[in-house]
Amino acid sequence: MKITVIGAGKVGSSVALNCSLRELGDVLLLDIVEGLPQGEAMDINHQLAERGIDYTVRGSNSYDEMRDSDFVVIVAGVGRKPGMTRMDLLKTNAEIVKGVCNKLKNNAQNSKIIVVTNPVDPLTYLVIKSLGGQKTNIMGMGGMLDLSRFKEHISSVTKISRDSIQALVISEHGENLFPLVRFSSIGGIPLTEFITENESEDLIKKTKNIAAEVISLKGATVYAPGNAVSAMVESIVKNKRAVLPVSALLEGEYGCNGICIGVPCVLGSGGIEKIIELKLNETEKKFFDLGVQSVKNAIKSLSF
Ligand code: 2OP
Repeated sequence: MKITVIGAGKVGSSVALNCSLRELGDVLLLDIVEGLPQGEAMDINHQLAERGIDYTVRGSNSYDEMRDSDFVVIVAGVGRKPGMTRMDLLKTNAEIVKGVCNKLKNNAQNSKIIVVTNPVDPLTYLVIKSLGGQKTNIMGMGGMLDLSRFKEHISSVTKISRDSIQALVISEHGENLFPLVRFSSIGGIPLTEFITENESEDLIKKTKNIAAEVISLKGATVYAPGNAVSAMVESIVKNKRAVLPVSALLEGEYGCNGICIGVPCVLGSGGIEKIIELKLNETEKKFFDLGVQSVKNAIKSLSF
């Protein structure tokens, strides 16, 4: 497997490290900044060498080298600063991602593409439209990250092992992300059996706000996003067919047409092999629709 990561900043390097630690393939780390991807690659390889992992990470400044990649992970773009929302990055990052798409056109026609650059939902749509690629091959990472935060909060409230928790987050990876308490469980038992209504509301609020808190404390989120991307790559590379929340192009599902947003999907060697349509109740649908509206507005403001 050849996994190309475009953008060798903290998140891109974390993606490269996590894909290597899971032994998913060789990684090509690309960046326009000379020296950065090469230095990151060396540092990661030193860790892999000690662990006896023979996959390698290579750093480069040449986009041509991504030819024949099985995966391209797009991380290029600016990150949000304290006080900003992900949507505040739309204009700047849309231009950067358009530039990346121009490089991808000649080099990655058949690759699976995972968009990480924020705001991830409208930018995933932008990539699908720009490349005219198969919608099953192009997806955004957001829900996996929200899910990991939701699990952490559930574990700390219930004092039960993180390993026993199954959870789901849907909608926009942004101000309207929506943790689905009703579709989450601990050891197969509905989460609602373990927490009160107040705790449930608190968990939702915390999951929504925690990324901003991390950014205000350390400037960026790094390790959780790297892991989240590698979990998606793993499900595809190993054809695990795991059910993971993914920003996918909806064409009729959930009553939506022509937007990318976080929904549970089966990820296997065919990419997004199935979009699972949940029967949302009225309240859940109301929150999901807020995300839909926000992503729709963002897409409307983009030029293609
Ligand atoms: C995150 O949620 C900033 O979207 C990024 O960590």
